[in-house]
Amino acid sequence: MKDTLLLGQLLRFDADPFVTGIGAARHDSHGAVLIREGKIADVGQADTLRAAHPGAEVVDHGKGLILPGFVDAHAHYPQTAMIASWGKRLIDWLNTYTFPEEMRFADPAYAAEIASRYFDLTLSNGTTTVASYCTIHPESVDAYFEEAQRRGLRALAGKTCMDRNAPEGLRDSAQAAYDDSKALLEKWHGVDRLGYIITPRFSPTSTPGQLTALGALWAEHPDCLMQTHLSEQTDEIEWVKGLYPDARDYLDTYEAHGLLGAGGLYGHAIHLEPREIDRLREVGAALIHCPTSNTFIGSGLFDMGLAGGSIRVGLATDTGGGSSFSMLRTMAAAYEIGQLRGRALHPAELIWLATEGSARALRIDDKVGRVAVGMEADLVVLDLASTPAIAQRSARAETIWEALFPTIMMGDDRAIAEVRVAGRKV
Ligand code: GUN
Ligand code: ZN
Repeated sequence: MKDTLLLGQLLRFDADPFVTGIGAARHDSHGAVLIREGKIADVGQADTLRAAHPGAEVVDHGKGLILPGFVDAHAHYPQTAMIASWGKRLIDWLNTYTFPEEMRFADPAYAAEIASRYFDLTLSNGTTTVASYCTIHPESVDAYFEEAQRRGLRALAGKTCMDRNAPEGLRDSAQAAYDDSKALLEKWHGVDRLGYIITPRFSPTSTPGQLTALGALWAEHPDCLMQTHLSEQTDEIEWVKGLYPDARDYLDTYEAHGLLGAGGLYGHAIHLEPREIDRLREVGAALIHCPTSNTFIGSGLFDMGLAGGSIRVGLATDTGGGSSFSMLRTMAAAYEIGQLRGRALHPAELIWLATEGSARALRIDDKVGRVAVGMEADLVVLDLASTPAIAQRSARAETIWEALFPTIMMGDDRAIAEVRVAGRKV
């Protein structure tokens, strides 16, 4: 296949901006990315790369901004059809809207239909990798991976395990959770661009026996990630205290069952105790910030001050608790939550979180999330003037950050000019 040379503005990072400041970002107003056999083969100035690769097919995006495809570090694809359900908080929301919808995934045809719809939505929003929860049904995992595989996506997911406090039909057992997860892991983990994540939903819907079984599975497969929810709402935390009277805190319900580690992805993590923060730092765990969900369900304000040290922080939509499929909208919500906590996140930090930060959290930053030689060519090109409101604001911009920020705050799928998966335009 012929090489492709993408031209446009380019934003790259030499380091984590939460550690080194925004000087970590490098901007080329006339940049270029050479794609060869699905990977990034060269990156630099447009003139230099044009001269070096005269045989490449040139795709010129003008002032379009070339970025890594967005990485959504926590989502529930089965909640696609019930996103934006009104008026409940976490536990009521799960019982009223979420569990009835998740029941429908017992039907493999329905699971396949939603998986396809879901990837249409994520790709049209420039998201090229998602780490998703599925449902209790192994068929829901197959549907997700089959669709991702068909589209050539790098994708992660796992069977959501629950053996209590969920309706009949959405409960497995400790043994079934172990057996099903193991079979799915053996079937999908490392196949093409797919990865399996061991997935206990959260402590309230698992017995200690189920957490122990999944902790054992993780110990047998330490190269897999493990994802769950942690300290999202205050009522939930009180409920966990009642269900696990011997636990020191919420995190301890995972720690005591072998579910705390560097490959652990802890969604939300808003109302943390000092001991929990210390332990998460010690093990180098990843926290996943889900800002549209946190405002939509009324959960609270995540502390971005946790980023930049040994805790890795990823950014995520958490659809359908989150109210958008768009990582642009998600960055905007992260900005707004930052403001409410007195910390205005810089556009460089927001873009980094939605790309390399999430890829680091998912431990795939050697493959995606960066525009660099050797990386897989999952890319998005942003139109920084996609609506009249954004265009009139960015027309005044004197820096790339001023030009980009209106798209972060007001942009949607209209700002996604092009998406490439392993080099191929979708
Ligand atoms: N906690 C347990 N399950 C869920 C879920 O599906 N969404 C959110 N936002 N929080 C949860
Ligand atoms: Zn979630």
